[in-house]
Formats: sequence, C-alpha cells, structure tokens
Amino acid sequence: TRYQEKYRPQYHFTPPSGWMNDPNGMVYYAGEYHLFYQHNPDSTVWGPMHWGHAVSEDLVNWEHLPIAIYPDSLGTIFSGSAVLDQKNTSGLGTENNPPLVAIYTYHNAEMEKAGSDKFQTQGIAYSIDSGRNWQKYEGNPVLKNPGIKDFRDPKVSWHSESQKWIMSLAVKDKISFYSSPDLLNWTFESDFGQALGAHGGVWECPDLFPLDFAGEEKWILLVSINPGGPNGGSATQYFIGDFDGKEFTTEQEETLWVDYGTDNYAGVTWSNVNDKQLFLGWMSNWQYANIVPTDNWRSAMTIARELSLSEIDGKLRLLNSPVENYKNLLQKKSHNWELIGQDSFLLQQASEWTEFSFKNNRSDNQLIRFDFFNDEGEELLFNLDFAENIVSIDRSLIDNHSFSEKFKSVQKAPMNVSSDKLKIEIYKDASSVEIFINEGELVMSALYFSEKDLNRIRVTSNHSMTADIQAADFHSIW
Ligand code: FRU
Repeated sequence: TRYQEKYRPQYHFTPPSGWMNDPNGMVYYAGEYHLFYQHNPDSTVWGPMHWGHAVSEDLVNWEHLPIAIYPDSLGTIFSGSAVLDQKNTSGLGTENNPPLVAIYTYHNAEMEKAGSDKFQTQGIAYSIDSGRNWQKYEGNPVLKNPGIKDFRDPKVSWHSESQKWIMSLAVKDKISFYSSPDLLNWTFESDFGQALGAHGGVWECPDLFPLDFAGEEKWILLVSINPGGPNGGSATQYFIGDFDGKEFTTEQEETLWVDYGTDNYAGVTWSNVNDKQLFLGWMSNWQYANIVPTDNWRSAMTIARELSLSEIDGKLRLLNSPVENYKNLLQKKSHNWELIGQDSFLLQQASEWTEFSFKNNRSDNQLIRFDFFNDEGEELLFNLDFAENIVSIDRSLIDNHSFSEKFKSVQKAPMNVSSDKLKIEIYKDASSVEIFINEGELVMSALYFSEKDLNRIRVTSNHSMTADIQAADFHSIW
C-alpha cells in the first residue's frame, strides 16, 4: 500500500505530498463528501496556497483528486467554503444542473508587500461537473476589502427563512455577516464578538449553523483563534445563540472550546448534509505546524466528527464525537477484557481504537492514568484527576519533540463532563491521539512523534474500579 512513511497516519486524511493546512470547501453532493484543503504542492512548509481536493463516500476512505483551484492574478487561494446552488441563484449553472460554488479568500502578497491593507478579498469559482473542474467567476472579487488586513475565510450557507445566502467572515477580532440573493452581490448585515469570547489572537475560519436541542433550534458559531487557545497557539471556540438572518446573538458568558487538545484547528462543517453537522479540523497548531518531523508531507486532518447539543449538569454544550463509519474499518475486535481491582492496574497491547466504559462510580479523589508507552522508554500520558477536576495530556516523555519547546508543555482541560457516567474512547494513529470523554462532552486531540510505536498501554487508578474494555486496530485507508 501507499503512504507508509514514518509518522504517516493510516486512517486520517493526509495530502499525498507537500504542505496542508485548513480543510476548505466541504460540501456533500451526489453521494460524495468533497474535501478541499489549503495546500502548497511545491513544499512541505506553508507557501502559495492552492485548494487541494479529495472525495469520500463515507468520510473515512478518501480518493485524492487533482488540485482544484490555483492562484491567479488576484492572489493565492486562502480558506473558504463551498455550497450547492440548488436553485441556480448565481446563474453559473442551470436549474437542471445546479453548480457547486466555492467561495474563498484571495490573498494578494504583492499588495501586502506594497503596504496596502486591502490584500484579502473574496472570490468564487464554480463547477458544473460534480466538482471535477473549477472555473473562476469573471467578476471576481465578489467582496472587496474595506481596508482591513484580516478579512478572510468566508463560510457560506443558505438561510431558508430569509431566502438568502449568509456569509460568515473572519475580520480581525470579530465575525462579520453578509447576505446575498445570488452569491455574487453581498450586503453587510452585522458584526459579532468584539467583546465576547477569547481574544488572545486573530479570529479565523468561522462557521454558522443550526442544531436541534430537544425540539428547539439553536445556532452555533464556531470561531478559530490563533494564538490564544486554551493550551497555547491555535484552537476553536464556539458560541451557542440565535441567528435571525441578520444578527447572531448569545447570552453565553464563558469561553467554550470544541477541543481542548493542541491539535484541532480551523475546523468547520460540511454543507448540504441533511439534519447533521459533520465536522473535520486540521490536526496541527501554528505553533509548530511548519516544523513537525514528517518527511515529504506535512499535516493530517482530524477524524470526521458529528456535532450535537447536550446538557451537562444543566448547561448546554456542543459535543463532537467520531462518525460511526470508522467502526467499519475495525479489524476483528480483540476480546473484551475487564479491568477490575484494588490497585486497578492493567497492561495490554495498545490498539488504534480503545474504549473504556467504567462501571462503578468514581471517587471524589480518583486519579486514572492511561499511559501509552514502548520499550524505548517513550510515554504519552493521559490523566483524569477528579480531585483537581482536570484532564491532561503529557507528551514530554516522547523522544522526538526537540523541534519545538512548545511541543513539550502539558495540555490541560477542566473536567466538565456528566457526573453520572464515564466512557473514554481513544483513537490512536501513527502520530496522533484523539480522546473523547462521554461521546464528545470533552475532547482532546494531540499529535506526538515517537521514535517507535507506542505499542503498549498501562491503565492505573488509585481506587478500585471496574471497566469494560474493547480494543481493535483499524484497516489502513490507503
Ligand atoms: C487558518 C488560516 C486562515 C487562512 C489560511 C491560510 O489556519 O490562517 O485564516 O485563510 O490559514 O492558509
């Protein structure tokens, strides 16, 4: 099979070669999930951005396609989204063959160098052959720059109540909403967020969508921020509120994060999927993305996740949990084992997928530790500390972290999970772990670069406990 290099994930999306960052243009059409991505095909570091392209029928197995959108005289192609223009409002297709329309940011490096503030504008491209070929719209840009340096990452969706397209745009320290009847002409509606949420860095890659909670419609706004994440560098916060076609409003006071790990950034959802919000993020962090020790390619995406709303101890929260289809990749499941004991200790072969369902109630000062390790003395620790109410990942005992001081710091998250259950699901690949507590109530995604496979797992606890454990490896998607 292909893509067997050291550190190459076996069931996560990676580019064939070269640099990748944000997922872009995610749209479902004709049985295919399209994934475009920020791509520099000529180098393994960030550079002139193109939209790389791949498709999947199940969000798990991917087929690489040729680069979809190339830089042109207006600039290189930064992040953005894609929609199915079902009613052909843009006139770029026909009603019988509605176009897929990509809305992206042009980044004009020459203008930036020349000292202009207006180097980011929004352009569109369209396809009338299921996303295989993309034409640029002749009237680009469709949204000019008003004189603000950070003016990018358009995420567009159809707002059925007002029968308009809504664009969420990241504008420095806020999200601006624009509306359009036809994807070509855009009108400013409102700004959100200058006095709310985390502001340790620039706001990027927004996403706005509704989710049902107990029969009520809530609107979610995702906002990536860099730096200023809960564990340094890049991370994605979210707001729960209302959207009336013009304005997003929220009563939320706390800052909430989609993922507390260091490595899930710029994630957004697929458009044109009925009744579901399916999410994918870039599994890296601008703190070290350009210098991680992979060879001929850089970066992977997270696994695809489904978003939902749930109440945790009386508070509404956004959950993200792996899409079911990954389970189709599981090789024959290993025997279920049970973890029982006074000193509660278990040592096993580490699998790519492991699920622990704890049967007994935890104690107030319980400490549970998951330790992935190998014979070389490399270890990755995941701790649940109920005395301090903190969950943490420590990758400082992995050999290969010399590329960045920042990579060593311990990642922490407040233990905001339902108190009446405890289920831990761990997805481990060649250079990443994604840990889901209680079906995505608390999530931590982190890269690691061990010299040797972390092929053993040790679970310990300071109190006796009983857990059902299931584990298995995945088939490679390559
Ligand atoms: C986020 C980001 C976007 C931008 C893109 C450039 O990671 O900085 O704001 O469009 O990457 O590659």
